[in-house]
Amino acid sequence: MRVVSGIQPTGNLHLGNYLGAIRNWVRMQDDVTAQGGQCLYFLADLHAISQPHVPADLASNTREMVAALVACGIDPDRSILFNQAQVPQHAELQWLLNGTARMGWLNRMTQWKDKAGKNREGASVALFTYPVLQAADVLLYQATHVPVGEDQKQHLELARDIAQKFNNDFGNGAEVFTQPDPIIPAEAARIMSLRDGSAKMSKSDPSDMSRINLTDDADTIMAKVKKAKTDPEPLPSEKAGLDGRPEAANLVGIYAAMAGESQEAVLARFGGEGFGKFKPALGELLVESLAPINARFVELRQDRTALDAILHKGAEKARALAVPTLDRAYAALGLVRG
Ligand code: TYM
Repeated sequence: MRVVSGIQPTGNLHLGNYLGAIRNWVRMQDDVTAQGGQCLYFLADLHAISQPHVPADLASNTREMVAALVACGIDPDRSILFNQAQVPQHAELQWLLNGTARMGWLNRMTQWKDKAGKNREGASVALFTYPVLQAADVLLYQATHVPVGEDQKQHLELARDIAQKFNNDFGNGAEVFTQPDPIIPAEAARIMSLRDGSAKMSKSDPSDMSRINLTDDADTIMAKVKKAKTDPEPLPSEKAGLDGRPEAANLVGIYAAMAGESQEAVLARFGGEGFGKFKPALGELLVESLAPINARFVELRQDRTALDAILHKGAEKARALAVPTLDRAYAALGLVRG
C-alpha cells in the first residue's frame, strides 16, 4: 500500500481538515507503516500560488502547517512529510500530464467553478490546471490510497481518468500509473461552517467564527460553539429528524466524529434536549480532544530549524521515490533525455 495526500498551507488547520482528512492520515500511518507500506503527506504549497497570496505568509504558514501536522500525530520518522516546492518532480509530471488532461474535464470541476466564480477571464491559469497538479501529486508515487474529505473526490476521479488515458495512449500495454482509490471517512466527510449549514467549513471563509481552528484556545472554542447558528427546536431522538436541519445535523455530526460514536448513539443520549444543553457538551468534548494537539503545536512551532529539517529530510526521501515514475513517463512520451 502506498498512501499519499496533501493539504494547502494557506492558513490554520481547522476541524474540517482534521476530521475529514488528517485523522485518517494518522490512522493510516499507524496501520500501513506497520504492514510495511508507505505514507507520504505533503504541503501543497505549489497549489497555494493558484490564488492571490502574500509570499511571506505562505512561507510562515508552510512551517506552521508542519508543526500542526506533527502535533496531530504525523510522525516524520514513519511518514514522509514534505512540501511540493522541494520536490520539483511534481511540477514536471504536471506538465507531462497536461498533454493528457482535457479542457472539458477541467471545465467540469466544481472547485474551479466555485473559486473562479463569474471572473473566469481573470482567474489564474494555475487555478484551472490545479487538478492536473493534484493528479501528478498522487500518480508520481503510484499511490494506491488517498485519504481526503468529500470535497476532493472529484479531483481524484480526474486523477484516475488521467492515469487511465495516459496508460492507454502511451503505456504500450503496461501500466505507467496506478489508479488511486480515495479514502473518505463515513462520518465527517464534509464538516460545515458554524455560521451556515450549507457551506463547508473552510480556511477561506472571512469569518473566523465559522470554523474551529486547531490553534484556538479553550475559551475561543467554547465561544464559537455557543455562538454557532442553530434552530429553535430540541434535538430529535432519531437521525431522520435531522433532515432539513443542516446546522443541527452538522453539530451532531461533529460530536459523533469527535467522540468516535454514531450519530444515532449521540441522538439517543441528547434527543429531546435543547442546544442550551448540547452546545456546552460539544464545546467541552472539543476542548478536551484538541487541548493536547494545541499544546504540542505551540511547542513545535517555535523551532523553525527543526521544522525545516523535517521538510528537508522528507523531500529527499520523496524525490528518491518520485524519480523512477517520472523517468518512465518521459520515456513513454518519447522524450529524449540524453
Ligand atoms: P485542502 O487544503 O482544502 O484540505 C485538506 C484536506 O481537508 C479536507 N477538508 C475537509 N473535510 C471535511 N470537511 C471540511 N469542511 C473540509 N475542508 C477540507 C479536504 O478534503 C482535504 O482532504 N487540493 C487539496 C490538496 C491537495 C491534495 C493533493 C489532496 C493537493 N494535492 C493530492 C490529496 C491528494 C486541498 O486543497 O485540500
